[in-house]
Amino acid sequence: MAASDLPPLDDTEAARLRADFPILETRIGDAQLVYLDSGATSQKPECVWEAEQHFYETANAAVHRGAHTLAVEATDRFEDARAAVAGFVGAGERDIVWTANATEALNLIAYSFLNASLGAGGPEAQPFRLGPGDEIVATGMEHHANLIPWQELAARTGATFRWIPLTPDARLDLEAAATIVNAKTRILAFTHVSNVLGTVNDPAPLVALAQSVGAFTVLDACQSAPHLPLNLRGLDVDFAAFSGHKMLGPTGIGALYGRAELLDAMPPFLYGGSMITTVSMEKAEYLPAPPRFEAGTQKIAQAVGLAAAVGYLSEVGMDRVQAWEETLGERMLTGLASIPGVRILGPAADSGVRRTGTVPFEVQGVHPHDVGQFLDSRGVAVRVGHHCAEPLHRFLGVTASTRASAYLYNTTSDVDALLQAVADVRGFFGVK
Ligand SMILES: Cc1ncc(COP(=O)(O)O)c(C=O)c1O
Repeated sequence: MAASDLPPLDDTEAARLRADFPILETRIGDAQLVYLDSGATSQKPECVWEAEQHFYETANAAVHRGAHTLAVEATDRFEDARAAVAGFVGAGERDIVWTANATEALNLIAYSFLNASLGAGGPEAQPFRLGPGDEIVATGMEHHANLIPWQELAARTGATFRWIPLTPDARLDLEAAATIVNAKTRILAFTHVSNVLGTVNDPAPLVALAQSVGAFTVLDACQSAPHLPLNLRGLDVDFAAFSGHKMLGPTGIGALYGRAELLDAMPPFLYGGSMITTVSMEKAEYLPAPPRFEAGTQKIAQAVGLAAAVGYLSEVGMDRVQAWEETLGERMLTGLASIPGVRILGPAADSGVRRTGTVPFEVQGVHPHDVGQFLDSRGVAVRVGHHCAEPLHRFLGVTASTRASAYLYNTTSDVDALLQAVADVRGFFGVK
């Protein structure tokens, strides 16, 4: 049956899915593990590591190199994996470059633009050259991975780095964006879903704004690709980045999405084997994308594992995943908001802002690290700290927060275990 014909996910179905994730049976001391840290990294279903194991058992060889049977088989599986992941995010096969993770994908764009600005590439690289007078714009809610590369690119090219501020309730200030993005803007980088707040930003107005001034758009899809249906071509962004390990896939693999015609014109970021057409002692010519950006031996088994992960997600259905996480997120939001001394960070539960199943909060009078340790003693795994978004935390007036993040395998009883444990925190630490 197609995923679109299936009934919505519920507790019974989530409990059935859990059976595919043996790690969720883990006990933490006397307590059953309640894993609410999928925003940091997701757990993986058995089919993912079985796919990797099957690759090693039946097809392991270097890709795009040998003429022997195993090498051809390995290459086919590697490229099939690319096609599967491309299809999952609404991209063409030539639009997907394998990277180690989203961080590397975002750095790849920045370094390619830097190399162009330093003179690499021919006339076709002109659109990527930056210098004094140009502006790069990000937002006040970025993960450091979609912030620091742009700060560095600006510093090294003489361009100016700017950012879209947030409204008092931590949404992107689109009115301010309309004045900050201007004719000098060359890159507009923004996150689809905030990794701290779980809020979903609508890419459409930002893409329209960037296009109206001829700027490139870079979408950080790290927290959207795992949690909602994604169609990158449909969104009409120029570039996007995501990580396999947050979407049921293995660690060590992620992807850069870029429109193939852009990628083909951009100077490479890493140089070496597998990305050249001809090499002499004086110089080299480079292949088009994707191999243009895939120097050296690739993450082959990991790509195969990620393809199994997106196959699993597609079978469940991303609409159903999104709806179930919203149900769990709402239960977390309203439950946490009703606990005395707990403050939800970001838009309030009744703000109407769309969220995934991620909720950050502070327990007044108790440091987030203590909150995290207490929750761990009840088996509840959450993330504490600034979640690689220090400027956003500064804006929220805290140095750190506690973040619970759900995924398709969580149930309402997981949320209730979180709520019960959070309700006991202040009593445990003797805070009135
Ligand atoms: C929104 C966002 N962007 C980028 C990243 C970086 O991902 P990775 O560490 O897998 O490169 C993360 C990871 O937490 C994230 O949540």
